[in-house]
Amino acid sequence: MSFWKETNMDTLITFNDVLLLPGLSSAEPKDININSRITLRFSLVLPFVSSPMDTVTEEEMAIELARQGGLGVLHRNCTKEEAVHMARKVKRAESFIISEVFTIRPDETVKNATELMNQYNVHGLPVLNDDENLIGIVTWRDIRFADDNLKVTDVMTKDVITATDEVSLDEAKTILHKHRIEKLPIVDSNGKLNGLITIKDILLKGKYPNAVRDNEGRLLCGAAISPFDLDRAKALDKYADILVMDVAHFHNENCFRGAREIMNNVSADVIVGNIGTYEAAIDTLSRLEDVAGLRVGIGSGSICSTSMVTRAGAPTLFATLQVAKASTELGSKVPICSDGGIKNSGDIAVALAAGASACMMGNIFAGCRESPGRLIALEGKYYKQYYGMGSIAARKARFSLDRYSQPSKDIAEGVEGFVPYRGTISDVITELAGGLKAALGYVGARDLDELKQKAKFGILTPAGMQEMQPHDIITPK
Ligand code: XMP
Repeated sequence: MSFWKETNMDTLITFNDVLLLPGLSSAEPKDININSRITLRFSLVLPFVSSPMDTVTEEEMAIELARQGGLGVLHRNCTKEEAVHMARKVKRAESFIISEVFTIRPDETVKNATELMNQYNVHGLPVLNDDENLIGIVTWRDIRFADDNLKVTDVMTKDVITATDEVSLDEAKTILHKHRIEKLPIVDSNGKLNGLITIKDILLKGKYPNAVRDNEGRLLCGAAISPFDLDRAKALDKYADILVMDVAHFHNENCFRGAREIMNNVSADVIVGNIGTYEAAIDTLSRLEDVAGLRVGIGSGSICSTSMVTRAGAPTLFATLQVAKASTELGSKVPICSDGGIKNSGDIAVALAAGASACMMGNIFAGCRESPGRLIALEGKYYKQYYGMGSIAARKARFSLDRYSQPSKDIAEGVEGFVPYRGTISDVITELAGGLKAALGYVGARDLDELKQKAKFGILTPAGMQEMQPHDIITPK
């Protein structure tokens, strides 16, 4: 090794190495705002993003997280069709006017209508003729006790109350109430179906005031893509607002080429990553024009074995500082999402102070009720399964293999295990947001911009690391 290499080594600091120094504060907890930006175009009410992993984010997680003000990124360890199906579900979950309406033909049987309603979890289907004109509506009440072999046309309501897409939320509520109906089809001047308003969606809208939505009122949806799969990116583009590159080491000529092609072909915002160094950020930001966000951190994930297998990596805090430095030097406003190794609200505060705008978490969200997979009871406690996308378990499905470099395809870069069950997303988010706001209070910051300006880090000594956590008490079992 050359002398230069020995003496210019970077210190790869990680979350556990640092504390935020308390500063003069005048902010009351109620005045503290943790709104943030996840891409150049989209903001979040809470800077929390779930990892695209098949033990973390499918539609249930994405829906619930967006309702609470964060963002779910759907995993890609499945077929393109399955990924699109999940994204459609997120988009349909609640919106003032649903544009993707499930419909039926008049000559279908009641049995088919029942099956469709069960499959898509809806309680009514507009009935369209061959010209796609609305000719009726069949609801759960119409078919509940009807003979399975009857035709839809025999049981549907033919005089349908409709509105146009000019209708306001209040007008829609008045119409639904006046006619004691639960569904209001939206038609154009030729009688073609353009959408559907349902009472359920109107009620949900009031229930989640923090929800993050697109400009049609639908929940924001993120989805993982590979730089080498343009087809999937194009298919998801119709539904996902944000496409998230999902490779372990994005600083690579092939990834740049693939990403450039994808960005030229989609309208969604594209977050690229993962990157971990100053040089990678300079290259990415200066060579790829349309980057809307950066995903940052290599090897810190709780299920990662990359740095054990390869002795390569960039811990998330170090990576965030490096990328933020490069980004500031370039005058870039592209938001940074810190990814991997985040264990609690304190780590989130540190990542945001270091320059991130949002934090991506796998471990924390894998333990929530809304993550895929069942609860597992072990020695009187509940757990959920959690594994890395480079682990043997994830690699069985084979769709995410290209996250990792060619030579290591046969080598696991992730491990499998269980995480403690944490309850619902809502409980977990409340705890994370509360802790983050408290951290801002200590620093004396009212929002995340002020946090970045005012935060000062101190490096802990090994003795400090021990002292700055609960110690010298016995905790009862
Ligand atoms: P946490 O710490 O929240 O980290 O569990 C989640 C992040 O880890 C990354 N990831 C992996 N990294 N091998 C890796 O080296 C893997 O098998 C693996 N699976 C996920 C990913 O960035 C995720 O968001």
